[in-house]
Amino acid sequence: MPQVGPGQVLVRVSAAALNNTDIWTREGAYGLPGRPDAKAGWRGPIDFPRVQGGDIAGIVTAVGAGVPEDVAGRRVLVDPAFYADGHDDAVPVGLLGSEADGGFATYVAVDADRVHDMSDSPLSDEELAALPVAYGTAMGMLERAHIGEGETVLVTGASGGVGFALVQLAVARGARVVALTGGAKAAALRQAGAAATVSRDGDPARELRAAAPGGLDAVADVAGGPWLERVLPELRDGGRWVIAGAVAGAVVPFDLRRLYLHNLSLIGSSMHTRAHFAKLAELARAGTLRPRIAARYPLSAIHDAQAEFRRGTHIGKLVITP
Ligand SMILES: NC(=O)c1ccc[n+]([C@@H]2O[C@H](COP(=O)([O-])OP(=O)(O)OC[C@H]3O[C@@H](n4cnc5c(N)ncnc54)[C@H](OP(=O)(O)O)[C@@H]3O)[C@@H](O)[C@H]2O)c1
Repeated sequence: MPQVGPGQVLVRVSAAALNNTDIWTREGAYGLPGRPDAKAGWRGPIDFPRVQGGDIAGIVTAVGAGVPEDVAGRRVLVDPAFYADGHDDAVPVGLLGSEADGGFATYVAVDADRVHDMSDSPLSDEELAALPVAYGTAMGMLERAHIGEGETVLVTGASGGVGFALVQLAVARGARVVALTGGAKAAALRQAGAAATVSRDGDPARELRAAAPGGLDAVADVAGGPWLERVLPELRDGGRWVIAGAVAGAVVPFDLRRLYLHNLSLIGSSMHTRAHFAKLAELARAGTLRPRIAARYPLSAIHDAQAEFRRGTHIGKLVITP
């Protein structure tokens, strides 16, 4: 049982979702500046032992000194980010499950200011747990790249956690989404609101030109790898490329002239700010956003859950229910 410190609450975990970062953190796959192959967590070295899991929904069962008693008993969504300072737009510099213990457990002690009351949300605990890392990251990308109404945006990794969230959130803002995806996932992405899909197994360049003949206003990318070099020329003048992941390769060559000659912006995006997370929590309370749950596993089967995550045939989020 974790100890509840001053200013903290004890949360009984109802659901905790899986993310790619659980696997990359376990493997130390983030590299270090100048040493891309070095074993490291996303912010550098990791202290052990460590309970992973950045996505937590649950019930507050106890409060520490200084926290109002009536917080106990509330159903909450936990913001997993540690921020650089107290401002609403402070950058994230840590994550539950990486820099502190997370939600792959029956109980977790967290700072009280990171729990958001979800008593009135129509979302299930599993749907809530699907939100923080994937939808938080997607929200951060859309906000930082100012992707909005009427814009044509390509989403990569579209069937994955962050990608699917990007499709749903961008559509909800009135953007026209073209989804890059593999396998037989196109129908589910269209159902989620994508106007067109491009298969990364076929002839993506031709399909992309057909799907966005006037070019792209923005690319929301979690794949990286060869896609930057291939798709950058498809951005209209003044377009934005926002990147938050590198599942297709981290170290890439690309033609800088395509960037500066067209006044393009390349934007790195990690997780979310407090302001972004507050927007997400508001959507969860209103129930206007319904994440897609691909499968559920008990905590005792977390190895099977990570193996399924790795296979990558699922669409949406895999959730652990302790
Ligand atoms: N910066 C941050 O704050 C942050 C936060 C969360 C995640 N991330 C990063 O974002 C990436 C995605 O995370 P996730 O949790 O969404 O993972 P995920 O659920 O595994 O989704 C990744 C998706 O990428 C696609 N993909 C796989 N291999 C690919 C390839 N070779 N080329 C193009 N697409 C490929 C697949 O979708 P399709 O089959 O539909 O193409 C897959 O479902 C990871 O690199 C993760 O570390 C970053």
